[in-house]
Amino acid sequence: MAFKSLLASLVVVVAFLQASQAGVVNKRKTQCPGGSVHQAFNPACCTWFDVLDDLQTNVLFSTCGEASHSALRIVFHDAIGFSRTQKFGGGADGSIIMFGDTELEFAANNGIDEIAGDLKTVADAHGKSYGDIIQLAGAVGVANCAGAPRLSFLAGRPNATAPAPDGTVPDPFQPVDTILARMHDAGFSPDELVALLASHTMAAADKVDVTIPGTPFDSTANVFDSQFFIETQLKGLTFPGTGPNQGEVASPLVGEMRLQSDFALARDHRTACTWQSFVTNHTLMNQRFSDAMDKLSVLGQNTRHFLDCSEVIPHPHSLKVIPHLPAGKTMADIEPACAATPFPDLPTAPGPATTVKPVPPGS
Ligand code: HEM
Repeated sequence: MAFKSLLASLVVVVAFLQASQAGVVNKRKTQCPGGSVHQAFNPACCTWFDVLDDLQTNVLFSTCGEASHSALRIVFHDAIGFSRTQKFGGGADGSIIMFGDTELEFAANNGIDEIAGDLKTVADAHGKSYGDIIQLAGAVGVANCAGAPRLSFLAGRPNATAPAPDGTVPDPFQPVDTILARMHDAGFSPDELVALLASHTMAAADKVDVTIPGTPFDSTANVFDSQFFIETQLKGLTFPGTGPNQGEVASPLVGEMRLQSDFALARDHRTACTWQSFVTNHTLMNQRFSDAMDKLSVLGQNTRHFLDCSEVIPHPHSLKVIPHLPAGKTMADIEPACAATPFPDLPTAPGPATTVKPVPPGS
């Protein structure tokens, strides 16, 4: 009998601890303490609003610039350090910051050091884990881009206990087979990879060719539209000779970079139709991206005691998107690759041939 009542008391204590960790979700918002300007449905999320303010003021500048782009990139590079078959990696565990001395030396993580350092400073200032700060900053960075979906944010990742090994982040010069195999090993289908690659609509490269930093992957890197999926389908320029880019089919647009992997995935029979399906369907693109990001953000994590603080993520501005061919291009410049359905007819933007401007450093 004494044992039974002890057990009952333990159950009550555990239930209480779980409830206080999850916080009480109210139907109405309550004022966050300490003179905060924020209100929350779940008071347990209030501290995340302080982190949000710090991030927006000091790191992301509330704009869809270089820092917001980098914040999304680090989400991928941290989380993809996970393998189902070899049973390594904590996935979305912040190991890229915690073990930055190791992981930031990997070739695929070139250029991530700046955002990793900035996020470490913010996490340390607020007593948050590195896994959580990466996911919050990624979701806020996406929200800073008009037309983006509002991603969710779950908090509760413990700090990483080991670095991810080298070789988990796909390389743009790897064949499609290798990239798809790596993504499969981490639990992602070809369709989910294409959905995640919507991220390259708010992206530029600094390190692929260091002589042209900030070179975007589409003509509208400051918004979350479907132009990336259109412009990767344009017939490209083939580099002759024997140089490092020989044979690469680059973007035909002046000022725009096309990764070899994006070129190949846009044309591979396993990915081309999903790629094309996003061209005129922004809603579908955002939905699939959001779903795949939900999965990526908790890869390798036990979410049982995580706290849903999605209410902290700002509402992205909406965007009137008219998918179009860049000025100077016609439908004859499209290289369709989906055998099942024709490439949608698109209008051409008016004006002289498009020159794509670089993403300004420090934006
Ligand atoms: C096949 C898989 C992928 C490859 C090969 C790849 C490769 C690259 C490369 C080479 C860069 C340029 C880095 C530089 O030179 O500065 C880049 C940028 C970027 N990537 Fe990916 N990526 C892949 C998937 C992803 C995924 C899944 C995400 C997010 C979910 C992502 C988000 C980004 C972003 C936002 C940038 C721009 C960063 C900035 O402008 O600072 N990438 N990617």
